[in-house]
Amino acid sequence: MKTSLVTGANRGIGLEYCRQLQARGDQVVAVCREPSPELVALGIRIESGVELTDADAVAGLLLRLKGLKLDLVILNAGILQSMGLSDLDAEAIRLQFEVNALAPLQLSRALVPQMPHGSKLILMTSRMGSIDDNSSGGSYGYRMSKVALNMAGRSLAVDLKPNGIAVALLHPGLVRTRMIGFNPSGIAPEQSVQGLLERVDALTLETSGCFWHANGQLLPW
Ligand SMILES: NC(=O)c1ccc[n+]([C@@H]2O[C@H](COP(=O)([O-])OP(=O)(O)OC[C@H]3O[C@@H](n4cnc5c(N)ncnc54)[C@H](OP(=O)(O)O)[C@@H]3O)[C@@H](O)[C@H]2O)c1
Repeated sequence: MKTSLVTGANRGIGLEYCRQLQARGDQVVAVCREPSPELVALGIRIESGVELTDADAVAGLLLRLKGLKLDLVILNAGILQSMGLSDLDAEAIRLQFEVNALAPLQLSRALVPQMPHGSKLILMTSRMGSIDDNSSGGSYGYRMSKVALNMAGRSLAVDLKPNGIAVALLHPGLVRTRMIGFNPSGIAPEQSVQGLLERVDALTLETSGCFWHANGQLLPW
């Protein structure tokens, strides 16, 4: 049986990852700050109280996970705080860097010793972190933090190749979650995660370090 770990597991895309991974027979470790009734209802292992910017909370998580081999790690937790030039907020930009870029990098490094040869590391990024694709501007903190995450992911792909760990940067599409105010033009989390798991399954050491849309499109940096 494969063991998969998902952060941001209590709602949105993370919750749906847990649901679909469990349905296909994985042992799932759901990491979150506060469990939701929907997550509890899955009956999977929940590691709660994990604020990802809090070093002590992350150290506690690592202690509880000690000795557990992880075949798939999905670092999905993230925040979006929209801002333009007129309402630029330095603190909000720093926080988005911490949650969206620094926390996944640090957690990746901490979990690598528990990831065997052939395991996979998935970083949930966004097309808003594509410089080439940016024709609408704005969203400074979110865009900058996801660019930073993309670069971290590319370096991780290079550095972890000798360990046999493949890394992917995945964009879920526009998905109807709280992050985007359940925008009705978004797709359902179910549909997004089906595509995302196809990308996970297709990922190899040869394709490690690429930036993919859930629909299979290779995205420009
Ligand atoms: N939805 C989209 O259209 C879309 C598009 C592109 C990329 N993405 C990316 O996909 C990922 C999942 O997004 P989503 O749409 O599912 O968002 P969401 O519904 O807002 O869920 C975000 C998750 O991240 C967790 N989280 C946020 N800050 C955290 C922190 N400091 N410590 C621990 N957990 C934290 C939240 O936990 P709490 O419940 O405790 O706040 C929640 O579980 C994100 O990385 C996002 O950037 C989403």
